[in-house]
Amino acid sequence: MRKVQAAGKNIDILFDEATISDRVLTMAQEIKKAGMSSLLVVSILKGSFIFAADLLRALHNAGLDPEVEFISLSSYGTGTKSSGEIRIVRDIESNVTGRSVLLLDDILESGRTLAFAKDLLIARGAAEVKACVLLDKRDKRVVDVDADFVGFECPDQFVVGYGMDMAHAFRQLPFVGVIAG
Ligand code: IMP
Ligand code: MG
Repeated sequence: MRKVQAAGKNIDILFDEATISDRVLTMAQEIKKAGMSSLLVVSILKGSFIFAADLLRALHNAGLDPEVEFISLSSYGTGTKSSGEIRIVRDIESNVTGRSVLLLDDILESGRTLAFAKDLLIARGAAEVKACVLLDKRDKRVVDVDADFVGFECPDQFVVGYGMDMAHAFRQLPFVGVIAG
């Protein structure tokens, strides 16, 4: 396994840049094939910002014209364990009534964040809400929710990089990795 130094830590690379980039292109094709019309992409911040930036450009290259919104949700403090309670830190501005919404998140773990976001948009009148996540930690699910599009199955380890942080660090890494020490 390749190791890299960042912020004074050794990081084991789990999914490298080229692997992520290939998968993101394929996911854009999968989303196109699903035939969502007048698509509104809602990126769940902060963790999904790099994934969103790459996937949105891949969606354009696949011939789609998504609109983009951001919602900032918080479930974690600065640690690596979820508090279990989801808060809206910053809301979207668009009216979602009648829209086909594609929620983007970095990781699906307990499912609380995604279930909260889905319920919120459905309650606001979205016609359809699908979800797309880069990583799925399937074994950690607490709430019964699944993503329609999944980049990679993720082992039960705390991962960082490609937008994902530990205590606000490591979001800038162009790959997904695990802190080795
Ligand atoms: P859930 O609500 O438990 O499904 O957790 C989803 C959120 O927790 C994601 O949006 C991530 O921001 C965060 N998260 C879960 N696992 C990890 C991890 O391994 N590294 C960094 N963030 C994580
Ligand atoms: Mg997140």
